[in-house]
Amino acid sequence: MARKKLLRFKFNEEAYNFIQPGKEKYATIKGNWKHHFGNHNPITLEVGCGRAEYTTGLAQQYPDRNFIGIDIKGARLWKGSSLSVELGLHNTAFLRTKLQSLEDFFEPGEVDTIWITFPDPRPKEGDEKLRLPGRRFLSIYKRLMPQGGSVHFKTDNRALFDYTLEVLQDPEWGISELDYTFDLDQSPMLSEHLGIETTYERKFKKVGFKINYLRFKFLPSHNTHDKSIK
Ligand SMILES: C[S@@+](CC[C@H](N)C(=O)[O-])C[C@H]1O[C@@H](n2cnc3c(N)ncnc32)[C@H](O)[C@@H]1O
Repeated sequence: MARKKLLRFKFNEEAYNFIQPGKEKYATIKGNWKHHFGNHNPITLEVGCGRAEYTTGLAQQYPDRNFIGIDIKGARLWKGSSLSVELGLHNTAFLRTKLQSLEDFFEPGEVDTIWITFPDPRPKEGDEKLRLPGRRFLSIYKRLMPQGGSVHFKTDNRALFDYTLEVLQDPEWGISELDYTFDLDQSPMLSEHLGIETTYERKFKKVGFKINYLRFKFLPSHNTHDKSIK
C-alpha cells in the first residue's frame, strides 16, 4: 500500500473523532452520540461524504450543532478528520461504514438533518437499491428521523435527480416543504447550500455541469409503509 495511504490509516486509527471497525465505539456508539460529543446538540449526517466538505464546513458555521461524515472509504474520510483536528473542531465525527448499516449506529430520533452530496448515480435498474437518494435509503433515513427532519440532496446528475423527484411524489413518504432547482447557481435557493462546494461538485462544475439541488422535510411521526427495496 502507498506510504501516504498508510499514514492516513494510522492517523484514523489514533484520531478520537474517527470511528471505524476495531474501535470500541464502533460497537457502542448507537444511542451514545451525546456522550461522544459531550452535549445534546442536534446531529447532521453527510452520507457518502468522501472528503466531508459539508461536515467540516457546517461545523465551523454552526458550533452549536454536531456533524458526522459517513463513508466506506477511510483514506477519503481522513481529509475531514485531519482537517477537524487542525481546526480544533469538537463538533465533528467520521464514521467508516457502509450506509446499509446506518441503523446499527443511530437510534430513531438521534438524527436531525441529512445531506446527500454527489452520490454515485448507479443508473442500472438493478442497482436502484444502491442509490443514496433512492427508496431503500430514504426509508432508512426516515426511520432515523421520526420527529421529522430535513434532507438535502445535491447532484450534477440530472437522471438521478429526476428519479429522486419521481420517488418523492409518492404521498406515502409523508414529506413537506419540498423545493428544488435544476441550476443551483442561478436559483434563489443558492444560499441554502451555505457556500460549501464538495470535491465532486467542483470537478463537475469545471466541465460545465449544472448543479441540481432539492430539500424537503419528513413530517413528524407520519405512519407509512416501509418503502425500502430489500
Ligand atoms: C461520488 S463520491 C462523492 C463524495 C463527496 N460526497 C463529494 O461530493 O465530493 C461518492 C461517495 O459515496 C461513498 N459511498 C457510496 N455508496 C456508499 C455506501 N453504500 N456506503 C458508504 N459509502 C458509500 C463512496 O465511497 C464515495 O466516497
